[in-house]
Amino acid sequence: MRSFHGQRSLTRAIQIVPFRLRHLPRVLRIERASFGADAWPRKYFLELYRDCRDFFVVAKVGGRIAGYAVACADKRNAEIASLAVHPDYRRRGVADALMRHTLAELSAAGVRRVELMVRTENLAGAQLYRSLGFRRVRLVPRYYEDSGDGFLMARAIQ
Ligand SMILES: CC(C)(COP(=O)(O)OP(=O)(O)OC[C@H]1O[C@@H](n2cnc3c(N)ncnc32)[C@H](O)[C@@H]1OP(=O)(O)O)[C@@H](O)C(=O)NCCC(=O)NCCS
Repeated sequence: MRSFHGQRSLTRAIQIVPFRLRHLPRVLRIERASFGADAWPRKYFLELYRDCRDFFVVAKVGGRIAGYAVACADKRNAEIASLAVHPDYRRRGVADALMRHTLAELSAAGVRRVELMVRTENLAGAQLYRSLGFRRVRLVPRYYEDSGDGFLMARAIQ
């Protein structure tokens, strides 16, 4: 009989590894597929690699890069700079795995508070962050270049 391992085996199949420059073309494709006109250009990612590489990771599913997350931190505070999962790999726990890994690494580095911005209309993003313990701090009107509003969200970590 064929065995069924369910969601737990999918979760186990997600591998989180440090971002390397060879991953950039795939990360840029994920970025464009996820953010469209809002997608960050290559030079932003090179800056993130220069400044925030300790917390820049990709998620692999079956050897294929399915998503990425990058956080920038100083001693006690960090910001989730960006997070995206390719549309073909969504709702399989990839973002959850990326975020849990990142929060654990930030915690190990001594960070105590993590912030992020999410567009007010980004229900998937907001729900993901809520499920990870982030709460809205305030509305930030016209935060985005196209004048879209964002929510600042934050959580403490131990
Ligand atoms: C938001 C995003 C990163 C989620 O990635 P994902 O790998 O599909 O998320 P996960 O499968 O890990 O979902 C974890 C939890 O987040 C929430 N969630 C994720 N996608 C959701 C959706 N479309 N609607 C509602 N809740 C959602 C759920 O609580 C989910 O748990 P569940 O599947 O048990 O219900 C992905 O949709 C994406 O890349 N969107 C475009 C870019 C973006 O919005 N980035 C984040 C804001 S900057």
